[in-house]
Amino acid sequence: MKYFIETYGCQMNVHDTERMAGLLEQSGYDPAESDRDADIVIVNTCSVRERAEEKLYTRLGEIKEMSREIGRTPLVVVAGCVAQQEGDRLIKRSKGVVDLVVGTQQVKMLPMLVKETAASRSELFMIDGRPWRPEGRIAIENPYEDPSFPLGIVRRGDPVRAYVTIIEGCNDFCSFCVVPYTRGHERMRSKAEILAEVREAADSGRREVQLLGQIVNHYQAPDDPSCDFPALLEAVHEVPGIDRIRFASPHPRHTSDRVIAAVRDLPKVCKHLHLPVQSGSSRVLAMMRRRHTRGEYLDLVARIRAAIPNLQLSTDIIVGFPGETEADFDETLSLTDGVGYHSIYSFKYSERPNTLASKRMPDDVTDEEKTRRIVALQTLQRSVQSNLFQRSIGTTHQVLVDATSRRHEWELTGRTSGNTVVNFPGPPEWLGKMVDVTIERTGPNSVWGQAVGDPR
Ligand code: 5AD
Ligand code: SF4
Repeated sequence: MKYFIETYGCQMNVHDTERMAGLLEQSGYDPAESDRDADIVIVNTCSVRERAEEKLYTRLGEIKEMSREIGRTPLVVVAGCVAQQEGDRLIKRSKGVVDLVVGTQQVKMLPMLVKETAASRSELFMIDGRPWRPEGRIAIENPYEDPSFPLGIVRRGDPVRAYVTIIEGCNDFCSFCVVPYTRGHERMRSKAEILAEVREAADSGRREVQLLGQIVNHYQAPDDPSCDFPALLEAVHEVPGIDRIRFASPHPRHTSDRVIAAVRDLPKVCKHLHLPVQSGSSRVLAMMRRRHTRGEYLDLVARIRAAIPNLQLSTDIIVGFPGETEADFDETLSLTDGVGYHSIYSFKYSERPNTLASKRMPDDVTDEEKTRRIVALQTLQRSVQSNLFQRSIGTTHQVLVDATSRRHEWELTGRTSGNTVVNFPGPPEWLGKMVDVTIERTGPNSVWGQAVGDPR
C-alpha cells in the first residue's frame, strides 16, 4: 500500500506532513511517486490565503477525474487548516470524493482513522478530539489532546534541516488571522521532549534545527519554570552535532532584550530574524490588534541592529486591510524602506472565516487597489534587496549546503547564517557540509559565488 501527501502553506504544515508520512510508514505504507500510484492521497491544506476552500474543491475535482482515468479510487484524506475549518462540510460538498477529514490537532490519530475509514467504508471526520461520522458521533476516545509527539516517527523530508515544534496553536487573535481557529489554543511542548527530538535530529545527521511555533518566543516550558524561550535556545545550543539553530516566527512584542542577547551570544543561532510587522501604520496595527505600534517596532529594530549589526531581518506584510488608506499604505512603504529587510512576504488582505475583522470590518479596499499596493511594495522591496545583495559582493560567508541544483549536477545551493540563498559550483558530496563561499554576483532572490577552502 502506498501513500502520497501534497502540502500547502507554512513550515508547520510541511512538518505535519513529515509527521503523517512517518506515522503511515510505521503502519506499513510506502511513499508513492505520484497521486496516480497511491492508495491513499492526503491533501494537507492551508487556509491563510484567499479562496483556499475553492482551490481545494478544484483539486478534489481533479482527483475524482484522475480516479476515473486510472479506474481505481484511492482513499482521499483532507488534513490541515481547511480540514479543521470546514470539517464535515468537506465530505458533504465534495460529493463522495473525500473519505476522511483530519483536523490539525488529530495528526497522531491518522493511522487509526485511516484503518477505521477503510474498514467501515464510510466517511469519517475528526476535528475536535473525537471522531465523527456525518450522521453522528462515534465512540473512539482520543488520548492525544496534548502537544506531545512520539519520538522516532517523523519522516524528515529535508536532509539537512530538522523542524521541531515547540508550541502548537495561538491565543493572540490578531483580527485578520484564522490560525487560532484552525490550530487551536496555545499549547507548549515539554522542554524534555523538545531536547530529545533535537538530539534525535542530530543523531540522524541533521545539522540545522528550526524551532516552530506561531509565536515561538512566547515559549515557557511546562516542565521547567525557569525555561523561557532564551533559556530553551541555550539548552538547544548545548546539543552536540547541531551547528545551526533557527526559529519561526517570533512576535515583536515578545522579542525582549534577553531574546536579542541570546541571538547575539549563541554562535549557533543564525543571525536572521523573521519579525512580522504586518503594517507600517499604527492606526492599522491597532485595528489588526497587533499590540505594538510603528514606533515600538522601529525601536525594537534599532535595538536589534545595535546589538547584532550583521543580522538580517525579514517580515510579513498585509496590504489592503479594511480601512487602510493611501496614507497608511505610505507608512508601510516608508517602514519597509527604512528597515531594509532582507526579504518580505506580502499578502493582499482577504477575509478569513470566524476572524474579528471578517465580522466587524468591511473588506473595503478594492482588489484593484490591493493589487496596486502589493505591486508597489514588491517593487520597492526588489530595490531594497538588490542594494543589500550588491553590498554583499566580495564578502565571504559560511554556507550550509542544503540542496543540489535541479538544473546542473555541479551546482549547489545553501543558506548563509543571515538566510541568503547562495548558489555555487561544487560536488554533490558537499550536501550537508558547511562551506565558505565568496559572493560574486547577485540574482533576483539569491546570489552566486565560489567556494573557498575545504568543506566541514
Ligand atoms: N489576509 C492576508 N494575509 C494574511 N495573513 C494572515 N492572515 C491573513 C489574511 N486574512 C498573512 C500574515 C501572516 C502570514 C503568515 O499570512 O502576514 O503573518
Ligand atoms: Fe500554516 Fe496558518 Fe496556513 Fe495553517 S493557515 S497552514 S497555520 S499558514
